[in-house]
Amino acid sequence: MKRSEEFLERRNNVVPRGIGTFNPATAISANNATIINADGEELIDFVGGIGVLNAGHCPESVVEAIYQQAKTLMHTCFHIATYEPYLELCEKLADLFPHGEKTKVMLTNTGAESVENAIKIARQATGRSAIITFTGAFHGRSMMAMSLTSKVAYKVGCGPYAPEVYRIPYPNFYKNHQGLDEDAFVERELYRFHKTLHQMVDVSQVAAVIIELVQGEGGFVICPKGYAQGLRKICDEFGIVLIIDEVQSGFCRTGKWSAYEHYGITPDISTWAKSMGSGMPIGAVVGRADIMDAAQPGTIGGTYLGNPVCCAASIATIKFMEENNLNQRGIEVGEKCMQAFESLQEKYPEVIGDVRGLGAMVAFELVHDGDSSRPNSELCAKLLGNCAKRNTIIISAGTYKNVIRILSPLTIPDELLEKGLGIITEEFEKLMESVIA
Ligand SMILES: Cc1ncc(COP(=O)(O)O)c(C=O)c1O
Repeated sequence: MKRSEEFLERRNNVVPRGIGTFNPATAISANNATIINADGEELIDFVGGIGVLNAGHCPESVVEAIYQQAKTLMHTCFHIATYEPYLELCEKLADLFPHGEKTKVMLTNTGAESVENAIKIARQATGRSAIITFTGAFHGRSMMAMSLTSKVAYKVGCGPYAPEVYRIPYPNFYKNHQGLDEDAFVERELYRFHKTLHQMVDVSQVAAVIIELVQGEGGFVICPKGYAQGLRKICDEFGIVLIIDEVQSGFCRTGKWSAYEHYGITPDISTWAKSMGSGMPIGAVVGRADIMDAAQPGTIGGTYLGNPVCCAASIATIKFMEENNLNQRGIEVGEKCMQAFESLQEKYPEVIGDVRGLGAMVAFELVHDGDSSRPNSELCAKLLGNCAKRNTIIISAGTYKNVIRILSPLTIPDELLEKGLGIITEEFEKLMESVIA
């Protein structure tokens, strides 16, 4: 038996199946965009630990920062003793992501925890309880984050879910434009939002709206600019806290530090995690100081939040991103992916219904007969399986798992990126030929 197979057998034996296996890869070590599996083979990583490794696997300066910090101070709990790496990271995040006149930052361990705390803060700041969220949303697996999440496959049997969560349709232009141009579509969707405030929940009860401007797990669906700007206006008009979830889209993935920079708006609160720590468990809630300070002492926090080693990793990761101009690289990686997928779509427009992307958050959606309402999940699963056999790790997204998304490290060398894209193209063409044959 191969060692990789042995790993998977041991996994089945001791790890509960609820922790889903999205890919059969194994890993012993990794560098930049390459993983060495348990059989010593090189795998091309187009997933980056699900959007965590924008700066690549094990960047040297981050590894060194972790080592130096671990030797010096590993834990005090920030509630007990104040240490500088926490302060330095918060100051850096407040500089990168100013929210209004003065910005304050709370550190967390994960994306779900960032979302959970953003909601607690928004409720305390407004004295209201209702939260508006969207179809296709994914905000994590803690109880509140799961309640905000849309895809039922991620929450089946886990209820009852948190109350006072209201879900409205995400402005998915590709699926729902019904012949309207983007402006008319945006107008219709914003009108729907207004109606929600009369039909579902009174505005006086709404604490926050939470949105991903590019839905991650939802299939890299991009919010139209006009809609995001309209949402900002509605929130201003009615005193609703606008929370933008940047957990997957942040830190150079879209070619900017945040997705919201593409939209010319600023949220009241934003949530972060994933690529800010190169794999170390760290996240953040960034917000307007007056809103952040509304949370009573003791109502937010935790034993490990902003652990010194994780803070050091994050500070070094951000420095690496700045020094290597990773935002620019995000644009370049995105362009290469778009080109490859648009060429495929030209050949197979009936099957590749949509190719979309913001920076390096690029995806293509598989459908039947060019019909956006008929997801082709089977083809997507086959393509992923065939790429895995060729040592290329890719995962799907979307409610129906019919979207191929790319989340490779942005540091990936061109040659490796092209090789991986070539493998996807070849395997896709082979599948198409087998359908025709
Ligand atoms: C947009 C978004 N929010 C929140 C989360 C949850 O993050 P975590 O898995 O770190 O809890 C994710 C994870 O994929 C995400 O994509």
